[in-house]
Amino acid sequence: METEKLHVHTIGCQMNVVDSQRIAALLKPMDYTMVESPDQADLVVVNTCAIRAKAEQKVFSFLGRLAKLKARNPELIIAVGGCVAQQEGDRIMRRMPSVDLVFGTHAIARLPEHIARIKTRKQRYVDTEMMRGIQEFDTPAWDGETGKVSQFVTIMRGCDNYCSYCVVPHVRGAEVSRKPENIIHEIKALVKKGIREVTLLGQNVNSYGIKDGECAFPELLSRVNAVKGLCRIRFTTSHPKDLSDALIRVFGSMEKVCRHIHLPVQSGANRILKQMNRRYTRELYLEKIEKLRHRCPDIAISSDFIVGFPGESDREFQETLDLIREVGFDSLFAFMYSDRPSAPASRNPDKIPEKVKGERLQALLDLQEACNTARAAALIGSIEEVLIDGFSKKQGQTHGANREVGKGIQWTGRTSGNRIVNFTLDDRNSPAPTFHPGDLVAVRIEKAFSHSLWGKPVD
Ligand code: 5AD
Ligand code: SF4
Repeated sequence: METEKLHVHTIGCQMNVVDSQRIAALLKPMDYTMVESPDQADLVVVNTCAIRAKAEQKVFSFLGRLAKLKARNPELIIAVGGCVAQQEGDRIMRRMPSVDLVFGTHAIARLPEHIARIKTRKQRYVDTEMMRGIQEFDTPAWDGETGKVSQFVTIMRGCDNYCSYCVVPHVRGAEVSRKPENIIHEIKALVKKGIREVTLLGQNVNSYGIKDGECAFPELLSRVNAVKGLCRIRFTTSHPKDLSDALIRVFGSMEKVCRHIHLPVQSGANRILKQMNRRYTRELYLEKIEKLRHRCPDIAISSDFIVGFPGESDREFQETLDLIREVGFDSLFAFMYSDRPSAPASRNPDKIPEKVKGERLQALLDLQEACNTARAAALIGSIEEVLIDGFSKKQGQTHGANREVGKGIQWTGRTSGNRIVNFTLDDRNSPAPTFHPGDLVAVRIEKAFSHSLWGKPVD
């Protein structure tokens, strides 16, 4: 008998990317085969994001597309999960009659039983119940079928910080940490399947374990660092208020921890930081950056910014630009403030017009482009350790499974500082060395572009 076809569509952050992998891993035993396009599917799962209004609009426009497919194929099952599902619940059912299942952020583990029920009883269903535990994260997210080098590992769920603009604590619930032994067990299993790099994921990994009486984050890192066969560890996201001296000391002392930190600052103005309920000042942030650089001079630092938070004056925005100049970020993400009805900042007066937000965003990105170019150029001449994650020949790019060696191939990978490096072999490399995805290679950087570096392996 032919198996049924499953398509999982993901909108949003890395957390959703892993959740979608877990969704696929949970549904495959029900005899589903993954397909690339919703047109071929019997079941479409949409994993949604509510962080900004735009992401939410994307969800509803995709659901509109699926409704058209369902008009042609009434047997199609449509399931909506993730943050918008949690936030909207039953309202999605009313707005979108073609949707069969709405499942919230804590309902992933219950997905197979819901799908089975929908198939047999042909009944629509909403499950937005919030749970205390975090057991579902102990189902593996990745079955190891396709070769790859790097994998996300969820170490916690939810957030207790309640930044005033943010929907996350409202839709993902209170912070819960997984048990360290379960995390280590998962990582060891990943390494057995060929994974060389893990990125530990949580909304605020710096507070890992504290509330649940598990070990603290630096201790977890040291346990991950001891996993044989693993060669790199990354983690995200860090909150400046919880970045401890013990964690700063990890950089440069645990050999597998990459020299990169993502440390969202959001704004450079103290009044705005206070309004955002971030619970640190500009000065404290700069002090943490100084400590990080003192400990690990070549650490790469990236950040997130929100422009046009309610009441943000021109001067306050200039303070943000000054902070960017002062820190010199390697990369950053910047967003126009977006009202989220469940987040308290949506009730703040003095909303900034869209046009002004757009101008501020552009000014910020222009400044960062210049800063990024300078930081990338500073790497020319240095030797970087690159973890190969793929290669390309003249036609197309291949990541992972198809392993090849030799000349005429362009390899690609990342530095410890998270910059993409492309390199080829030439006559200087004779005989041609043998590379595979997953290898660590020393590469001398010869050229710098804004989004990648170019170099040659050193013998
Ligand atoms: N509007 C704009 N950006 C937001 N972010 C979170 N909430 C909002 C919002 N309401 C940004 C923050 C956060 C990143 C993941 O998304 O910068 O760090
Ligand atoms: Fe949202 Fe703040 Fe929690 Fe990050 S730390 S998820 S911005 S509430």
